[in-house]
Amino acid sequence: MAFPVFAAEIRVVGVVGAGTMGSGIAQCFAQAGFDVCLFDSAPAAREIAAQAIGRSLAKLVQKGTLTSAVEEATLRRLSYPADLDRLDRCDFVIEAIVEDADAKKALLRRLHEITRPSVVLASNTSSISITALGAASGRPACVVGMHFMNPVPLMPLVELIAGQATDSASLALARNLCTTLGKTAVDAADYPGFIANRILMPMINEAVYALMEGVGTAEAIDTVMMLGMKHPMGPLALADLIGLDVCLAILGVLHDGLGDPKYRPCPLLRRMVDAGQLGRKTGRGFFSYA
Ligand SMILES: NC(=O)c1ccc[n+]([C@@H]2O[C@H](COP(=O)([O-])OP(=O)(O)OC[C@H]3O[C@@H](n4cnc5c(N)ncnc54)[C@H](O)[C@@H]3O)[C@@H](O)[C@H]2O)c1
Repeated sequence: MAFPVFAAEIRVVGVVGAGTMGSGIAQCFAQAGFDVCLFDSAPAAREIAAQAIGRSLAKLVQKGTLTSAVEEATLRRLSYPADLDRLDRCDFVIEAIVEDADAKKALLRRLHEITRPSVVLASNTSSISITALGAASGRPACVVGMHFMNPVPLMPLVELIAGQATDSASLALARNLCTTLGKTAVDAADYPGFIANRILMPMINEAVYALMEGVGTAEAIDTVMMLGMKHPMGPLALADLIGLDVCLAILGVLHDGLGDPKYRPCPLLRRMVDAGQLGRKTGRGFFSYA
């Protein structure tokens, strides 16, 4: 059986998980000319994603980055099936569901049953082992990590991760798709948190410790990092953008996987997640959002 390696051989892309990341990934694939099936187990999430994509495309038209014709064509390429089984017609699938290894393993096993055997299954995981996800999927050679950055339509980077059993054709396809989307792919080894979150999350965690210990207010901590270190946004505002639940899950993977106490999630981060203060997506995190 011939496996597709070139992005041109991919027509229909499945995206599972229509949250912050899944909606952005679906938008980018649709903008690049692919038909996209965006599935989420929560019907409300599908609706919110459709609205978010509509708003995002309208903004690009306003800015002059996109024509109205491309906007309309992009919207026409997107569908929001209510049943995961409808992804059986997809030539490539990427998952962006909750950062939970068991949930992702169960989903990949299900996708293995639904899709053709040659279909590459990508994970947008921020930290979880691609090797472990691949092993659980039933098709380890065709499982690859494609770690997009938030917000996906604006951020040019994708970390590409091969698991222990990922074959070169699957990795080549993922790389070609990144190029087609206009993204820059950077290879990272399959270690907890890869490159981006191995470096970013300890900084965010330390900022939360500094806040908890009263070293500075949230505004002071973020201002120091923006004006003093030239970061475009402070670590606490960035944590709000990422989602505090996502940050906590990633720190958990770093802590368990690397076994070093320096990755211990700050108790204040845990308390905010327990309180449902998850950042922008709930309207409140370290800062408040209207
Ligand atoms: N938020 C970020 O900045 C960011 C950046 C890069 C990567 N990621 C990764 O992307 C993934 C998604 O993160 P997010 O921030 O978009 O999360 P999110 O909470 O915004 O969205 C997750 C979505 O997945 C859905 N879902 C959960 N289980 C499902 C299942 N079994 N089947 C179908 N849908 C399911 C939920 O209903 C929800 O809509 C995670 O793996 C995360 O680590 C996040």
